[in-house]
Amino acid sequence: MMSNRTFTMIKPDATGKGYTGAILDQMIQAGFSVKAMKWIKLSAEQAGAFYEIHKERPFYGELVEFMSSGPIVAAILEKDNAVADFRKLIGATNPANAEEGTIRKKYAASVGENAVHGSDSDENAVIEGNFFFSGLERF
Ligand code: RTP
Ligand code: MG
Repeated sequence: MMSNRTFTMIKPDATGKGYTGAILDQMIQAGFSVKAMKWIKLSAEQAGAFYEIHKERPFYGELVEFMSSGPIVAAILEKDNAVADFRKLIGATNPANAEEGTIRKKYAASVGENAVHGSDSDENAVIEGNFFFSGLERF
C-alpha cells in the first residue's frame, strides 16, 4: 500500500537565502499538508546520524558540514502518494538536471547545496520523521 506521508527538510542554503516561505508555499500549493514542523539547527553529530546511510559516500563529510552550517526546517507532509509526488515536486538531486518549475530548479545552486530533502521511500519517510519528531509533535 502507498503511504500518504513523506518527510522533508528545507536545507541551510535555502533558509539562509530567505527562500523558506516561498518553498513552503509551493509545497502547500501542490497539495501537501503539514503534519509536523520545526525550525532547528543540527549539530555535526546529528547531521551525521541523519545521513548515516551515506557514510561511505565520498561527499559524506561535505554533506554533514553543510547540513549543520545553518538552520533547517524539518517537516512531515501528507498527501496521496506523498513520497513519489514530493520527489517530483522537488526535482532531480542536481538542479542542473531538474525539471523547470521544480523546487530545486528554482532555488538550488548545486548538487551539494540543493535546497530541499525529500524521503526516497515510505520506509525512510517513517524513519526520518521519527528522527525529528515525537508523538506529541505531530498529528
Ligand atoms: P535528499 O536525500 O537530500 O533528498 O537528496 P537525494 O535523495 O536527491 O540525493 P541522495 O543521493 O540521497 O544524496 C543526499 C544529499 O547528498 C548531497 N550530495 N552531494 N557532491 C555530490 O556529488 C553529492 N551527491 C549528493 C546532496 O545534498 C543530496 O541531496
Ligand atoms: Mg536521498
